[in-house]
Amino acid sequence: MALNAAREAIEQAVAERQAQLESAELDRALTEESVDITLPGERLRRGRLHPITQIRREVEDIFVGLGYEVVDGNEVETVEYIFDKLNMPEGHVTRSPLHTYYLNGDVVLRTETSASQVRTMEAKPPPVYMVSLGRVYRRDTPDPKRYPIFHQVEGLAVDKGITLADLKGTLQLLLRRLFGEEREVRIRTSFFPFTEPSVEADVSCFICNQAGCRVCEYEGWIEVGGAGMVDPNVFEAVGYDPEEVSGFAFGWGLERIFMLRHGLPDIRMLWQNDIRLLEQF
Ligand code: PHE
Repeated sequence: MALNAAREAIEQAVAERQAQLESAELDRALTEESVDITLPGERLRRGRLHPITQIRREVEDIFVGLGYEVVDGNEVETVEYIFDKLNMPEGHVTRSPLHTYYLNGDVVLRTETSASQVRTMEAKPPPVYMVSLGRVYRRDTPDPKRYPIFHQVEGLAVDKGITLADLKGTLQLLLRRLFGEEREVRIRTSFFPFTEPSVEADVSCFICNQAGCRVCEYEGWIEVGGAGMVDPNVFEAVGYDPEEVSGFAFGWGLERIFMLRHGLPDIRMLWQNDIRLLEQF
């Protein structure tokens, strides 16, 4: 009994003293440590999306607005899908390991997003309205215009009665959204194994309004990328009937679009991640 009484007395004394100390500390803090809530706070730096991600989303939004679906492609592709089914003949130069990264005998890092056309068409019957955006790889030495990794947007529309005029109208809409509503589009003949006819699309120079300047090399027009009407051989490779449907496709570089629009002189700057550059966009 005596021991318990002693323990209770000690416990009570400790609790009293603790309460005293805590309230003394509270009094001290309330009088000495005043917080001026009118002072400005510490500025938090906000992050942002990389310019290429911004362009990618911008292009996706434009096509979603047109009713296209956005399709994922494979960055690692087979020779069958990236070359054979895209109608590339045996000796085609991009089949060379000097141009393309081979992972093993017939597996490569894709050189273009065009295999997504084949995979999308194989997966479902026409009509098809899709875009597919992502990284592509080429064995290029980095220089102001080339980098071994870059991004493309692939577009594909297949339906009854699609013509070159539909391609031109679609590219015009895209280029006007990207470069301004006054832009004109020009198409010139070109060659790609998977389109026939093939074209190269140009946009009227948005720097000089076609008066002639260094950006357009005094041409008034700036090349933006390749396009064309889907080759009947590609339709046959995916089991579509070229007598029934027709379609157009295009494949453009996102870095190139960005560099043109913002006057960026060197593609490598987009891969250096220098915050002083990135913060401007
Ligand atoms: N894949 C081509 C390239 O990388 C571009 C292209 C895509 C051309 C679709 C025509 C149709 O150069």
